[in-house]
Amino acid sequence: MQPKATRIPTLLVTGSNGQLGFELRRSLAPLGHVIALDRAGCDLARPDELRRLVRELRPDIIVNPAAYTAVDKAETETSLAHAINGTAPGVFAEEAKALGSLLVHYSTDYVFDGRKVGAYVESDAVNPQSVYGKSKLAGERAIAASGATALVFRTCWVAGAHGGNFAKTMLKLGRERDSLRVIADQFGAPTTAALIADVTAQIVSRHWLHDRRDAFPAGVYHLAAAGETTWHGYANEVLRGAAARGVELKVDPALIEAIPTTAYPLPAPRPANSRLNTGMLRETFDIHLPDWQQGIQFLLDQILS
Ligand SMILES: NC(=O)c1ccc[n+]([C@@H]2O[C@H](COP(=O)([O-])OP(=O)(O)OC[C@H]3O[C@@H](n4cnc5c(N)ncnc54)[C@H](OP(=O)(O)O)[C@@H]3O)[C@@H](O)[C@H]2O)c1
Repeated sequence: MQPKATRIPTLLVTGSNGQLGFELRRSLAPLGHVIALDRAGCDLARPDELRRLVRELRPDIIVNPAAYTAVDKAETETSLAHAINGTAPGVFAEEAKALGSLLVHYSTDYVFDGRKVGAYVESDAVNPQSVYGKSKLAGERAIAASGATALVFRTCWVAGAHGGNFAKTMLKLGRERDSLRVIADQFGAPTTAALIADVTAQIVSRHWLHDRRDAFPAGVYHLAAAGETTWHGYANEVLRGAAARGVELKVDPALIEAIPTTAYPLPAPRPANSRLNTGMLRETFDIHLPDWQQGIQFLLDQILS
């Protein structure tokens, strides 16, 4: 039998040093030729350069985890946050449309105000309360306006082995301090960058590379680990997991003080309810999303090994 002559797809990945960018480099590698660029190689604050780069590389798939993620700093760096999170995704979308390529982009629970009772579905009304949330919503809207074939995954409470996150902060503080106070009235699901990256690769492989593209279910999907907790419950899981792995902690995980959001004021407001209903993603793409605790235990194995 003759070997099948297939062209290897080119995938452009932005923000290669971010939590998610790092994991995407791993998960997308079996799908084709991955060109992963950091800020120096692909600066989202420079739209003309983005256009030139995409036209030169002609990727079959653009995967854009790069973002302005400094939520509090965004309150004062409004135009930079909007350029990176609002304008740049629109530029990628326009270029993807011109090439007939797929755009995969990531958004956030911060597009919601967090006042809903129960988990947010994709069609719920958006109402971002922070500059970061507004800038991410602008990115979603620019993609929709372009008419490009795009997947936008809204996720929440992301943690990866590469980069900074709440789990790593708790590990550091738990070793240094004998008491900790953590917010217990915001709800969400800690979601590992590895899970988001693996789900991205599965969907792109099964539904874009190996299925009929005219039936491709483009759109906005909620992608988060199963279950829910608070930052306090999350801290408890991380520190109990660390203690079980022999880490010497100053703090007793059972004695972490639960505090309300009002006791820890920050420049940018956070949604009290970050619960994302993932039913549409699970049903459309036949994807199983494991419990958040499973992801955090894997993460601890990686971080502490
Ligand atoms: N982290 C969360 O809890 C969370 C929650 C919901 C949604 N999300 C979304 O999920 C996606 C991935 O987040 P993440 O946690 O992986 O973020 P991250 O770890 O902060 O990584 C963001 C990456 O974007 C890069 N970046 C920033 N400005 C850039 C620019 N002008 N040009 C090119 N790259 C630039 C950063 O580069 P440097 O390394 O040079 O700074 C960094 O590598 C983002 O879209 C984010 O909005 C994140």
